Amino acid sequence: MNLLGIGGSPRKGNSQTMLEETLRGAEQAGVETEIVLLRELNIAHCDGNDYCLEAKECRQKDDFQAVAEKMEQADSIVLATPTYFDNMSGLMKDIVDRSNYLYAKKSLKGKKGYAVISGGGKRESLEKCLETIKSFYKHELMEFSGAVLGEKLEKQNAVSKNDCLLKKCFELGKKIAEE
Ligand SMILES: Cc1cc2nc3c(=O)[nH]c(=O)nc-3n(C[C@H](O)[C@H](O)[C@H](O)COP(=O)(O)O)c2cc1C
Repeated sequence: MNLLGIGGSPRKGNSQTMLEETLRGAEQAGVETEIVLLRELNIAHCDGNDYCLEAKECRQKDDFQAVAEKMEQADSIVLATPTYFDNMSGLMKDIVDRSNYLYAKKSLKGKKGYAVISGGGKRESLEKCLETIKSFYKHELMEFSGAVLGEKLEKQNAVSKNDCLLKKCFELGKKIAEE
């Protein structure tokens, strides 16, 4: 089994640490993992053409193709994002939109999808972000299978002082390995 973690923060902060801890939990249980950090890649916004729905490929050529291939090859995917205005980050939304041709191909069908979400405010805000991630998985015919939400994490490294939250992420990784 292999697990792909996709980090959608523009900084090395809370959601990335939560993602790394989740992958560490899965690795300790024998799962092969890989992490992709979107801020290190060059991925354009979806240009909105309908070519992809018929051709089942994206005509925009950039780093997204490699990410898409990794998504197609993974058994399970964890999306990790900060909450921005009750939603995912723009970096994460870009890959969701660019995945329209994977939706047309149904190539993510049956995979398990997870989420780790950080936020500076209250839990309700992160729950709204989670709803969008769940919608993405639903449209891609994936199975949403679990999430960890870390609220009240305002400062960049706030999560490092929250052992309880990090333990939840580690446990999520172990659970992914068992599924
Ligand atoms: C543009 C922007 C919008 C934000 N909107 C929200 C929000 O709606 N709800 C929330 O709880 N936190 C919000 N935050 C705070 C971040 O989600 C929080 O600091 C988070 O821990 C950042 O994760 P990161 O360290 O992985 O980037 C916002 C931060 C920024 C920069």
